[in-house]
Amino acid sequence: MKKSPRINTPARLDARAEGDINTTPGRQDRQTLVNLETRDLLDQDARFFFHQSLSTPCLDVVNHASGVFLDCLSAGRVMDFHGNSVHQVGYAHPHIVAAMKNQLDRLVFCPRRFTCRPAIELARELVKRSPIPHSKILLAPGGAEAMGMAMKIARHATGRYKTISFWDSFHGAGLDTCSIGGERLFRDGMHPLLPGCLHAPPPAVPPSHREIPSLEAMRDPGYLDYLMRKEGDIGAVIAEPFRYSFALDPPTGYWQQVRSICDKHGALLVFDEIPVCLGRTGHWFACERYSVVPDILVIGKGLGGGIFPLAAILAHSGLDTARDLALGHYTHEKTPLGSATALAVLEVIETEGLLGKTRDQGNRALAALERLKLKYPRMGSVTGIGLQLAIELVDHQGLPDVETAERVLYHCLSLGLSFKVAGGNILSLAPPLTITGEALDQALEILDFALGREYGIK
Ligand SMILES: Cc1ncc(COP(=O)(O)O)c(C=O)c1O
Repeated sequence: MKKSPRINTPARLDARAEGDINTTPGRQDRQTLVNLETRDLLDQDARFFFHQSLSTPCLDVVNHASGVFLDCLSAGRVMDFHGNSVHQVGYAHPHIVAAMKNQLDRLVFCPRRFTCRPAIELARELVKRSPIPHSKILLAPGGAEAMGMAMKIARHATGRYKTISFWDSFHGAGLDTCSIGGERLFRDGMHPLLPGCLHAPPPAVPPSHREIPSLEAMRDPGYLDYLMRKEGDIGAVIAEPFRYSFALDPPTGYWQQVRSICDKHGALLVFDEIPVCLGRTGHWFACERYSVVPDILVIGKGLGGGIFPLAAILAHSGLDTARDLALGHYTHEKTPLGSATALAVLEVIETEGLLGKTRDQGNRALAALERLKLKYPRMGSVTGIGLQLAIELVDHQGLPDVETAERVLYHCLSLGLSFKVAGGNILSLAPPLTITGEALDQALEILDFALGREYGIK
């Protein structure tokens, strides 16, 4: 296998911030391992789709997805611990598929100026669970659109356009959302971005990503207080409660402090929980883990059960101030099919006790990863928040080991386990919350085997 030079420049890590990329020599090698039929389909895919480093050219062709498994044309059965974070309830959950089929027989679309029973029912069920008192909701066809609506509400309600968000965060690929996002992969070459989008260093990063020691002080909420005091007119702090792919909690009390700093300066607190809402942390919403209530909570991905593209914002009814304007106006807004899907997702989470199960399975998986760490010293930190788990791979100096991370990924893939590699060296594991203990153990065995081969330890 060809080796790329071991130079972990910040730019090289930035390119891989959001996930493993398809432009590396390791990936080229991997792409020679597919059968002829797959090769032909991948070539067609590459011929017709625009190329992007996180998608096309692709790895394999999925024929079927069910539960935790993808059935791929070349790789065969693969456990999916990536799933673009949509598969809290696994793929093609029978209850959800049945609810969708049932809805298809009743009402398929709800044009503007009308509403429909499933949308009203979904709003009621989300408001019932919302950590924000007196919530109202808006629906959108995707997370980036929902984040855009949250930004518009914050502008309208506060009369201020400036925001503070965090470097290394992701809030969607649109121009508004990549202005508040903090990943160069989405921002480079796209300027000018929205004005007034200030950024602060994220509150928590894995040890190998703490490249500049003097930066550490700026991770303190006090820095946000300072920025807000100096600017004077910040409308909102916008954040993921934790960077999901790092599975790393901010320091204890961080969000409570930020909450009171926002209140002091009249800014809203907007939480982007798009990839981690609805149970991934073992709570309905991640903010519950930190006992903090944001002003606007944005959810998505798993809301559509891994089938239907759907996102929503939940916010205090006092923020319902833009009655003469249009905040979203998305064609698929009060979608009957999407709403019926989301209602079925909520039912599955409840009837299968997925919140408690996630906490238990998450604790068990984290304990297993900690045992692996004793065996493989090059595993830097291992962290877990519910069933969002992360393993940092470092070199002998404690710096990001990008090459090993990529090789471990491809080795795991060939053994039937898929996951994301975030930030170049973080193996980010997000299984469906419905996963059985047996399947989880099997995945950990694959990981153990791949790490053992890489580090020459049995
Ligand atoms: C934290 C976060 N916010 C926003 C988004 C954007 O969601 P969508 O892809 O549905 O636009 C994502 C998607 O990965 C995300 O992870």
